[in-house]
Amino acid sequence: MDLSDMRKTYKGDEESFEESQLVSLDPIKQFGNWFDEATKCPEIGEANAMCIATATKDGRPSARMVLLKGYSSEGFRFFTNYESRKGVELDSNPHACLVFYWEPLNRQIRIEGSVERIPQQSSCDYFHTRPKSSQIGAVVSRQSSPIPNRDYLRQKNAELEEKYKDKEVPMPNYWGGYLVKPHTMEFWQGQTNRLHDRIVFTKKKVGEKLGEFQREAAGGWLYQRLSP
Ligand SMILES: Cc1cc2nc3c(=O)[nH]c(=O)nc-3n(C[C@H](O)[C@H](O)[C@H](O)COP(=O)(O)O)c2cc1C
Repeated sequence: MDLSDMRKTYKGDEESFEESQLVSLDPIKQFGNWFDEATKCPEIGEANAMCIATATKDGRPSARMVLLKGYSSEGFRFFTNYESRKGVELDSNPHACLVFYWEPLNRQIRIEGSVERIPQQSSCDYFHTRPKSSQIGAVVSRQSSPIPNRDYLRQKNAELEEKYKDKEVPMPNYWGGYLVKPHTMEFWQGQTNRLHDRIVFTKKKVGEKLGEFQREAAGGWLYQRLSP
C-alpha cells in the first residue's frame, strides 16, 4: 500500500503561530492554554489521550497511549500498572517522552522528562474516585502479562465483583501514578504551506549560556524556534 499522497491541508499562513502569540513564557501554562482549547474542540474525543514512549535500559523504545490525569508546575500525571511493560521499563530507565496530537487543531505537543512514581497515598486517593468497575478492572488485569483467553478475564472480573459487592476495592500495590517532570516541551502548529511552527522550551541548566537564537522564558526555562 503506497500512502505517499496521504496528507491534509493545514491552516493558512495568517494563522501562523508567532512567539508573540504564546499566552505565557511558562511552557506549562502554554500547555494549559492549548489543552483547554483541545478540550473545547468538539471534534476531539479525548483531548487528554497522549502517547508515551519509554525505553529499556539499553535504549530499545516502546510506545503506547495513556490518559493524562493531571498536570501542574511539577509535571504530567498518568496512572498505570507498575508491572506492565512501561512500568518495568521505567524502573530501569526513568525517562519518557509524551506526545499529544490534536488533529483538528493541527497541533502537537512533545514533552520529555524524567519520571517518578507519585506517593502511594495520592494514587490511592485517585483510585477510589474511579468507578468501581474500573477499580476492579485494575485488580483483574496484571497488565502486559499473557493470559489463556478472554473468558479468563470475564471469570476473574465476575469473582471480584462478587467479592467486593459491599466492600471497598483495595488498591493493588502494582497499580499507581507516575509524574513526568519535563525538561523539554515543544509546541508544533501545522501550517498549509508546510512552514510549520515549532517553538521549543528547555529547562535552563546551571551555568548554561544562551544559544544564538535562544531566549529567556519564565520559571527557569529557555525557548527558541526550530526549523520545521
Ligand atoms: C486512548 C487510550 C487511553 C489509554 N489509557 C491508558 C491509561 O491511562 N493507563 C494504562 O495503563 N493504559 C492505558 N491504555 C492502554 C495502553 O495503551 C496499553 O495497552 C497498556 O497500558 C499496556 O501497555 P504496556 O504493555 O506497553 O505497558 C490506553 C489506551 C488507549 C488507546
